[in-house]
Amino acid sequence: MSSPAANIPQHVAIIMDGNGRWAKQRGLPRIEGHRRGVETVRTVTFAARDLGVRMLTLYAFSNENWKRPQDEVGALMGLLEFYLKKELDTFVRDRVRFRTVGRTDELPEGVQKQLRRTTEETKCFTDYTLVLALNYGSRTEMVDAARAYAAAVAAGKEKLNDSSWATFSRYLYTADMPEPDLVIRTSGEMRISNFLLLQAAYAEFIFTPVLWPDFTKADLAAAIADYNRRERRFGQTSEQLKPAPASK
Ligand code: IPE
Ligand code: IPE
Ligand code: MG
Repeated sequence: MSSPAANIPQHVAIIMDGNGRWAKQRGLPRIEGHRRGVETVRTVTFAARDLGVRMLTLYAFSNENWKRPQDEVGALMGLLEFYLKKELDTFVRDRVRFRTVGRTDELPEGVQKQLRRTTEETKCFTDYTLVLALNYGSRTEMVDAARAYAAAVAAGKEKLNDSSWATFSRYLYTADMPEPDLVIRTSGEMRISNFLLLQAAYAEFIFTPVLWPDFTKADLAAAIADYNRRERRFGQTSEQLKPAPASK
């Protein structure tokens, strides 16, 4: 377990995977797995805060997930709307700021309405933020950012010669968010699936075989403890990062 002095990742991002397999193992329809997955979202949202995390980003629907059977996509959208309606009071009571990343304007109108409402009614909270990645994909994010950046250059608001990561990254969906320190993927798959490619450039990765509906606070605590045993060097050497020994 982590000690009080432990270094807690400020931003944890999770690729929630394995709902379908969880259901299949039980002979249930895939949507049952998604329903249980929503329960885990609820648990993990508050578990992360209890453990000292300041921002939690959950990958809930990718740009590519539209390619799933229509009834599954429809059920996921229904579940999302239901979840948002149900959680709003809890977010307000427990001071959870809610926001999204992704092309939310392509989601069903009912979902968009709930997203706007939840975002608006929680925008004053500052201690803890839940971010849902919805209709998200790093590639479309990059295209959207490049377009917005080009428009800003054309309008004279940015100078092409001054381009840097610091200026360009302001056009990503995540402009005002810290980069993820820790990215967790459940279900044993070891891939990124188009999630926060640029932002996770220096994140630590943890892959766990646990299926998302089975993921618990203890699993999250274990991931954080694992994160704590790692040395993040950001291109430097280990020696550079260690404080110089006190000289006599
Ligand atoms: C993750 O679970 C939820 C979404 C991607 C929406 P999956 O539905 O991908 O579950 P598996 O990978 O089929 O088990
Ligand atoms: C990634 O999971 C997307 C989300 C968790 C929302 P997928 O299950 O869609 O990813 P692939 O297709 O297995 O890579
Ligand atoms: Mg999957």
